[in-house]
Amino acid sequence: MSCASSHASPLPPTRWSGDLIQVVAETARLVLRELADADLEAIQVYASDPAVVEFLPWGPNTEDDTRRFLSAVIAARAARPRRQWDLAIVLRREPRLVGGCRLHITDEIAGEADLGYALARGYWGQGLASEAARALVEFAFTRLGARRVWAICEPANPASARVLEKAGLRRERFLRAHRFMKGRWRDSYLYACHHVAR
Ligand SMILES: CC(C)(COP(=O)(O)OP(=O)(O)OC[C@H]1O[C@@H](n2cnc3c(N)ncnc32)[C@H](O)[C@@H]1OP(=O)(O)O)[C@@H](O)C(=O)NCCC(=O)NCCS
Repeated sequence: MSCASSHASPLPPTRWSGDLIQVVAETARLVLRELADADLEAIQVYASDPAVVEFLPWGPNTEDDTRRFLSAVIAARAARPRRQWDLAIVLRREPRLVGGCRLHITDEIAGEADLGYALARGYWGQGLASEAARALVEFAFTRLGARRVWAICEPANPASARVLEKAGLRRERFLRAHRFMKGRWRDSYLYACHHVAR
């Protein structure tokens, strides 16, 4: 199965804090689940934090920015075949939304998807982003039939580079001044990993 033909048959919906919410992946400490309108406040905590969005193309968000983001995410998941998974990162034990992650199919024919993540600052340094990224890579390969998962990160963001390495991606290229973001040209590392068919 390739990304082009995949509809990623969902896991059964799970009752989460009283609501029926679709769980996409689970790890030892985390649940990656679909976003809902009720997540606005929790997303706003990290999306409005300048330290969190320093290396991201968006933010710091106003509440309206986050509301528009949520609407776009909810609209995009109705597409068939679906191309975008923007998910909540939720702690299992609380449960509390502590960040977001994404997997977007960027080339259906080639089976390529790109990966991203952000955590609220109070949850950095506990291995949570690596845990989420590993689960997304697994989801891309085993459920979406992706062939290549890629991501870019700035050399000035070594924690993100390390997350990608711990999720099994390898640095492929250095991209000098390849994107203009927040008033200046940024360098990036391109990371990727491939699914080897057996
Ligand atoms: C980048 C981010 C997701 C990392 O989340 P996290 O949960 O703290 O990451 P993890 O704990 O899983 O792993 C971080 C790794 O980076 C390492 N690290 C952290 N800061 C580092 C630094 N300044 N230099 C080198 N390594 C660093 C950690 O030691 C850890 O590696 P280790 O487990 O081998 O010790 C988080 O800081 C964040 O949300 N940042 C803002 C959003 C963002 O930048 N997203 C990525 C855009 S490309």
